[in-house]
Amino acid sequence: MKNPAPTEYPVHEFIRERWSPRAFSEKEIAPADLRSLFEAARWAPSSSNEQPWAFIVATRNDQENFTKALQPLVEFNVNWARNAYLLGFAVSELAFAKNNTPNRNAHYDTGAAMAQLTTEATSRGILVHQMAGFDPDTARDVFEIPAGWDNVRQMGPHRRFHHKVIKLIL
Ligand SMILES: Cc1cc2nc3c(=O)[nH]c(=O)nc-3n(C[C@H](O)[C@H](O)[C@H](O)COP(=O)(O)O)c2cc1C
Repeated sequence: MKNPAPTEYPVHEFIRERWSPRAFSEKEIAPADLRSLFEAARWAPSSSNEQPWAFIVATRNDQENFTKALQPLVEFNVNWARNAYLLGFAVSELAFAKNNTPNRNAHYDTGAAMAQLTTEATSRGILVHQMAGFDPDTARDVFEIPAGWDNVRQMGPHRRFHHKVIKLIL
């Protein structure tokens, strides 16, 4: 389903067509598409070119890790995110790898990577719904996120939903 933003000035269709749905088709996302999403994130700009982000992801086909990825979410988010094809966490490395001093741009840069991932996704007919509604401590425990990395946001990319296969539970 398309839900274009009513922009006041013209913008690229990949910006206009991005939105955060809570329902989606049951179709799988091809591995080649998934790789391109993370490739787009990889080429985001970052302070000192540190690229201080990483993604922890599980597709529905990896039930063990997919179930783990649901655990930190608040109930409201579990209700719809459990039907996504993929769940993941964006994590930020809080110190520069080059000299171990604090990188105050780590979250900013991770956001830039997510923005590129999201735009690449939209261009492929895949929509990403980001979430802050999860417990960071649970996420850290479940995925053994090391100290020095902050689990900033959770996300669920999925195919645009079709009305016929809607699984919306709110
Ligand atoms: C950092 C961040 C955290 C968010 N957290 C949640 C969340 O926990 N649950 C949810 O349903 N939506 C969440 N959203 C989605 C926003 O509500 C949504 O992006 C916003 O309402 C604008 O709508 P749009 O993305 O469809 O344009 C989050 C978005 C961002 C960027």
